[in-house]
Amino acid sequence: MHSFHYSQGQLFCENVSLQGLAQKHGTPLYVYSKGTITSHFTRLDAALGELDHLICYAVKANSNLAVLSTIAKLGGGFDIVSAGELYRVIKAGGQAGKCTFAGVGKTRDEIVYALEQGVYCINAESEAELRYINQVAGEIGKKAPVAVRVNPNVDAKTHAKITTGKSENKFGIDFDRIGEVYARIASEMPNLEIRGLQMHIGSQLTSVDPYVEAVKKVTPLVEEMKAKYDLQFFSIGGGIGINYRQSLDSGSADWWQANGELHPLTIEVYASAVVPLLKPLGLRILCEPGRFMVGNAGVLLTQVLYEKRGGAKTFKIVDAGMNDLIRPTLYEGWHQIVPLTQPTTAETEVVDVVGPICETGDYLAQNREIPLVKEGDYIAAMSAGAYGFTMASNYNTRPMPAEILVDGDAAHIVRERQTLDDVLKGEHVV
Ligand code: LLP
Repeated sequence: MHSFHYSQGQLFCENVSLQGLAQKHGTPLYVYSKGTITSHFTRLDAALGELDHLICYAVKANSNLAVLSTIAKLGGGFDIVSAGELYRVIKAGGQAGKCTFAGVGKTRDEIVYALEQGVYCINAESEAELRYINQVAGEIGKKAPVAVRVNPNVDAKTHAKITTGKSENKFGIDFDRIGEVYARIASEMPNLEIRGLQMHIGSQLTSVDPYVEAVKKVTPLVEEMKAKYDLQFFSIGGGIGINYRQSLDSGSADWWQANGELHPLTIEVYASAVVPLLKPLGLRILCEPGRFMVGNAGVLLTQVLYEKRGGAKTFKIVDAGMNDLIRPTLYEGWHQIVPLTQPTTAETEVVDVVGPICETGDYLAQNREIPLVKEGDYIAAMSAGAYGFTMASNYNTRPMPAEILVDGDAAHIVRERQTLDDVLKGEHVV
């Protein structure tokens, strides 16, 4: 579900023409729809309505302050993976008391900061980390609320680089060892307070089956730990997949709903499968969606600079590169490429859409059939709201793009385009 659609020959985000934004603010440009984010949050919230639950949005997907503030105002919590992300959440008006702190390599400074700010829970991923949190908490006179991340050894059937719940992945503690680890926390780590249990099996899951398998496997363990250690919550992680192939037809007031049906794993399917399994636990259920919340809420706008017809291929060379959107080359991510001006013919051509970076892997799309676009035209890489800007870099000394949040008729600049002086800030010649 998203709020991008053609109207009067132009691609719109909510009520704002994207061509107008590209011309006014330049490209590459990220544009997000506040309405889409809000709709995703409320839909998920409603689907989990039968449970005592907290949605902890995975900040890594899109950490712009305006996005975080939107979610905080909806009552959301946050799944953070660094002190930096916690700092952002607090700056955006979010509550540390609704944050879970994940990640395999937390440093002392990060643990201290999280405890001082009063995060809801630190999700630990190894016994060594638990011992370290216990030590640091003792040194600063705090009791650290913790959960252990269980690795359920379930195949999420997603891209290898975003699978996390198999025993060969670095994440979590093996299912079979969880009982003894909780026993050790209780008997040997006096500065820890056991608060929950967490799992996360991977990202961009397009079937509910791996969730069901993992939840069915882990719930007996949760029940056992609850009986022994008085757990408050069970977190089922994030990973709900989105549909990267969307319809952009509009005209009907119902296009939200129509597009929602294209979702490969609808939130309703997800909830109807997992809620009945989770309800009998009588615990607070946390979930940590990132991509679901923001993926289809964002696009990357770029301009066609040149066309190059080689012997084997036609290249459309655009002004956005792999430094702006790395998903195609890193995960074979597929982003729909659409012109901002609605095509007037059905004619298409097969092209590579490539960026200006000096790397063969610098492409937004390969061997892709797209409508005809010529030099100077603007195009959008769709569904770029998650892991787009947050994974962007200054590679090739390219300034980071600007970000815009559209809210109805209004378009707010929520991050200014970097200047070259911003990029060089902090460097010194010796
Ligand atoms: N919880 C934990 C512990 C995670 O590691 C992640 C994502 C999430 C929640 C949120 O997952 P989501 O709901 O967004 O699938 N950069 C990759 C995705 C990396 C996901 C990392 N962990 C991509 O662009 O596909």
